[in-house]
Amino acid sequence: MEKAVIVIPTYNEKDSIARMADHLFQKILPVDGWNVKVLVVDGNSPDGTSDVVREKQKSYPDLELLVEQKKEGIGAAYIKGFKYAVDKLGADAVIEFDGDFQHPPETIPLLLKELDNGYDYILGSRRVKGGGFPASWGFKRMFFTVAGGFTARVILFFPTKDFFKVTDPTTGLKATRTTLLNKVDYEHVYSRGFGYKLEWLFKKIKAGAKVKEIPLDFKLREEGVSKITGQTPFEILKTVCLLRLKDPGTVRFMKFAIVGFIGFLVNAIFLEVFRAGSGESIASWFRGRIENCRLLCSASAWAAGLATELSICSNFILNNCWTFSKKNFQRKDNIFLRFLRFNLTSMGAIIIEFGVVGVFTRIFADNVLVRQLSMIGSVIFLVLPYNWFMYNNVIWKKKKSGSGK
Ligand code: GDD
Ligand code: MN
Repeated sequence: MEKAVIVIPTYNEKDSIARMADHLFQKILPVDGWNVKVLVVDGNSPDGTSDVVREKQKSYPDLELLVEQKKEGIGAAYIKGFKYAVDKLGADAVIEFDGDFQHPPETIPLLLKELDNGYDYILGSRRVKGGGFPASWGFKRMFFTVAGGFTARVILFFPTKDFFKVTDPTTGLKATRTTLLNKVDYEHVYSRGFGYKLEWLFKKIKAGAKVKEIPLDFKLREEGVSKITGQTPFEILKTVCLLRLKDPGTVRFMKFAIVGFIGFLVNAIFLEVFRAGSGESIASWFRGRIENCRLLCSASAWAAGLATELSICSNFILNNCWTFSKKNFQRKDNIFLRFLRFNLTSMGAIIIEFGVVGVFTRIFADNVLVRQLSMIGSVIFLVLPYNWFMYNNVIWKKKKSGSGK
């Protein structure tokens, strides 16, 4: 039979933890197909929570207790608890669970059932049908929780599909299969307080978790007090920002943006350089040979074309040697072919700007303001996403994993 360990961190929860032990062992457990243990990780609570647990251990052999030297934050408690559950108790799955009845114990069998169904990361969500917040929560509390959760989702996941997969990123109710847990470095976290939740969420999703959300009807606390402080939201915000900033995808995007900006400068500068030099020579070659050759005889047109190609070259070289230099982006294709392909996808950007600037100057007015604004707008909202997509999915497509993480 597979083993699951419900890890409950506690700090001054003497009133609820006895009730919780009774409730879990008398009303919820056993669950079919699972050997379930409950592990309380107590932050050396001054109210004697650990003594209450020791007393209960006499009636429940599957109740385990780990006492920390001192309170170090809920994240620290879970790190110790999970390590103990995996190394000492041989857990196949670990569950994050609050000790104060705000997480209904009835959700435990549902979490285990989804593990049976093949998911390896199950999240209790207060933002899906059937889940919710206490009706008596005031507007302010609701607003902070909902807006905070949304902000965390945006910072962590936007615009990837994970943004839609995770509706309640700060939730405290989760089940994780050990196979998934072992894929991530869960012991090293920026935040040992409540921010750890976002960190584990981010890492597990990045590690390819098979995610399933179940509804969580978050209850009111009946006894004791919350350990969340005024500092907690800032700690969480700092944590999610750090996670996203240090993510390899973000670093790559920054390099891509810098390279793009350099390309823009190359384009602008060489437009002027070529205007006087090669642009003029090419244009003059046509003069006299072809009649009515407005564009072919224009030095600026040739200069713009050459300068654009030069910026395409600079973009290609810098992205190839810097942004996408890592081995897993480099296939054994011919570099010349890759450059040709790059030129072809760059045509897409030209077509986008051609269309947008053309349409906007037609609708509004053909003046420098409309031209520049529509050009900048099309670069930011269309060309940038387009290039980013093409570079990642066509030119420097990542090799399927298997060749190292
Ligand atoms: N050992 C230990 N050390 N336990 C702690 C610590 C700590 O520093 N801080 C909190 N706990 C325990 C509490 O005793 C409780 O059993 C559980 O962790 C959850 O803490 P609460 O203080 O009850 O958190 P909350 O109810 O305000 O916050 C809930 O919602 C958050 C998101 O909105 C929890 O579900 C959080 O996990 C969740 O992130
Ligand atoms: Mn609580």
